Amino acid sequence: MSEAQLPEHRPGTEPGSRTNLDPHVERYAARTAGMTASEIRALFAVASRPEVVSLAGGMPNLAALPLESLSQQMSELIAEDGLTALQYGSAHGVPALREQICDVMAMEGITGHPDDIVVTVGSQMALDMVTRLFCDPGDVVIAEGPSYVGALGSFAAYQAEVVHVAMDDDGLVPENLRAALAQCEKAGKRVKLLYTIPNFHNPAGVTLAVDRRAEILEICRQYDVLVVEDNPYGLLGFDGQTYPALRSMDPDNVVYLGSFSKTFASGLRVGWVLAPHAVREKLVLASESATLCPPTLNQLVVSKYLATHDWKGQIKTFRENYRERRDAMIGALEQYMPEGCSWTHPDGGFYVWLTVPEGVDAKAMLARAVTARVAYASGTGFYADGLGSRQMRLSYCYPTPERIREGVRRLAGVLESEMDLMRTFGSVTTRAVSGPQTPGPETA
Ligand SMILES: Cc1ncc(COP(=O)(O)O)c(C=O)c1O
Repeated sequence: MSEAQLPEHRPGTEPGSRTNLDPHVERYAARTAGMTASEIRALFAVASRPEVVSLAGGMPNLAALPLESLSQQMSELIAEDGLTALQYGSAHGVPALREQICDVMAMEGITGHPDDIVVTVGSQMALDMVTRLFCDPGDVVIAEGPSYVGALGSFAAYQAEVVHVAMDDDGLVPENLRAALAQCEKAGKRVKLLYTIPNFHNPAGVTLAVDRRAEILEICRQYDVLVVEDNPYGLLGFDGQTYPALRSMDPDNVVYLGSFSKTFASGLRVGWVLAPHAVREKLVLASESATLCPPTLNQLVVSKYLATHDWKGQIKTFRENYRERRDAMIGALEQYMPEGCSWTHPDGGFYVWLTVPEGVDAKAMLARAVTARVAYASGTGFYADGLGSRQMRLSYCYPTPERIREGVRRLAGVLESEMDLMRTFGSVTTRAVSGPQTPGPETA
């Protein structure tokens, strides 16, 4: 669903809403209390107008895809193999695709066996399944602070408690992780998972330093915590650089999540899990109960694309497009942002994480920003514990470089006037902060 196609937001109609507008309010399961729509949705009717520059969305820029040859291939697929392509398949996934996924993962040093791969409906489904398999209500998931909003939504849906661990410019800080685990142990909490996005983090834009990786794995071993490595952006390093996957360093204690959403086509919804052998069988059962099987046609489309297209060349093209957009955003931030703002410098992926001056509430400011025709994702949505009110995620993946520069210029103007008001009146507004939200495609 594109931004423009999203249904108009009506307060009280989102799942789990406890407002009087919802006649089913007494019927929902307790676990739905943690399910709320992302805050940008509420501003959506306005934010998706063409005059608004949206730096909020995480939609990949697909303009460089070879649509004509893809269309020809899809029609060949139906003509030549339609009875398979349009039929149910196995929950495990199409065998040929699982073999090809091994070649994709080899680019980041992973030697996986096709048997240990389960194809999923995007890595979002993998997040749901892994949480379902491992987390009882009250179990703790350690996650970077900030973390991916869709993962926080899954953890909330299964009533897991998220404990955030702060990062620096080199990603997760091992000492912080150790301290958080020790504190949980002392409090008698059961920590099940470390959820981490080591490369080109969403939303923080940072990458876990290579020399921290072994230490983090070692700490997790020591505390008997399973690592969930979520890596949809790993092949989008702007200099073509890749980093050794955690999974390649400790295959028995890492569940690896991959996706074709950012390197091929997000709408096909094809992702995968590479799990330790014992976990794989449970994942297949979980997948069966969720969907019976991932869509056969989409898997065959991906498989044919990998077999016949220069997919590595296509990823290089994507990388170049995103690098140009990253440069536009960083250049504009340097040119326009007022004193007191700071931001991360991503060397891959889609996102910059911006910290605004003390006293500015990025969430409260969003409505004013949209009025000034620029939108962003405010930081509170990326924390389960209410932090992030001085932060926002700026995405450079989708708009043109010119629109990015214009969006940052407008945002800087909004910040300037916010700071002017603060200088005059003290603080501008205070608003309650919210916890994790169910992502829409607009905040993914
Ligand atoms: C870190 C992270 N994990 C998972 C996903 C979900 O991706 P998919 O399209 O494969 O479901 C996203 C999407 O933006 C993401 O950024």
